Amino acid sequence: MYQTLLTELDGNIFIITVNRPDKLNALNRQVMDELNQVIDEACQNNAIRAVIITGSGTKAFIAGADITEFMGLDKKQGQLLAKKGQDIFFKIENASKPIVAAINGFALGGGCELSMACHFRLCSSNAKFGQPEVNLGLIPGYGGTQRLTQLIGKGKAMELMMTGSMIPAEEALQLGLVNYITTPETLLSKAKEILETIANKAPLAIAKVIECVNVAQSDGKNGFEKEQEAFAACFATNDMKEGVTAFLEKRKPDFKGN
Ligand code: COA
Repeated sequence: MYQTLLTELDGNIFIITVNRPDKLNALNRQVMDELNQVIDEACQNNAIRAVIITGSGTKAFIAGADITEFMGLDKKQGQLLAKKGQDIFFKIENASKPIVAAINGFALGGGCELSMACHFRLCSSNAKFGQPEVNLGLIPGYGGTQRLTQLIGKGKAMELMMTGSMIPAEEALQLGLVNYITTPETLLSKAKEILETIANKAPLAIAKVIECVNVAQSDGKNGFEKEQEAFAACFATNDMKEGVTAFLEKRKPDFKGN
């Protein structure tokens, strides 16, 4: 039914695996459309009590939005891209069932943003996190400027988004970005163990926990709109064209600040 996702119902836990391992599970249009559909499916199916999102292969959870789709986009298209991504991630964040990210490798850019839209995260010891958009003359556009700041605080969020550096699993744990680190082999079983505990609680109460915690974190509503505008503005710059071209040509970008 899905071309870019694998799905499996294990008891009452639904496992969604983004399945483009040769592209490090990068989020292209099709993956985003299918994620949008599969979250609806998970929310509507009464046999499902909880959801795990993970990535295919041993290297990556998701290495970001698909950079090959950025070339040639203008400011308006940039804004639409950000809005669509934000809307899908709001759907995850506001789902009435627990959705957990099991991060099995690189969680970069849109991959880190997707994980942050989930209700909480756990990762394997080989996971690496980052918001490397500045390397492309861009900024996070799927909610990252808001959720990273909420999750790890302003100073560290600023540093990560300005340097574009990756951090290892241990640092992600220290910062509160993930709740647990496991071995790669035990990642899914640990996620299932936690979700089985949750699945035995009252579903309506769980839905209310999600609703209330999200209200506690909702100060940044205008921040999401600001992020869309700023992400879109990057698409009108030469630096963004240079950054994306450099990635595609596998060379270092030469940014001029225009
Ligand atoms: N979009 C599109 N393709 C991507 C991608 C992305 N975000 N991330 C990785 N890929 C592709 C690579 O282009 C490569 O494809 P190819 O084999 O056709 O050349 C393939 O996935 C494997 O990646 P590769 O770069 O060869 O692996 P690596 O181990 O050398 O490096 C990363 C891994 C994650 C460091 C590197 O792929 C990377 O920097 N990716 C981009 C991360 C990023 O900027 N994300 C934010 C986007 S907004």
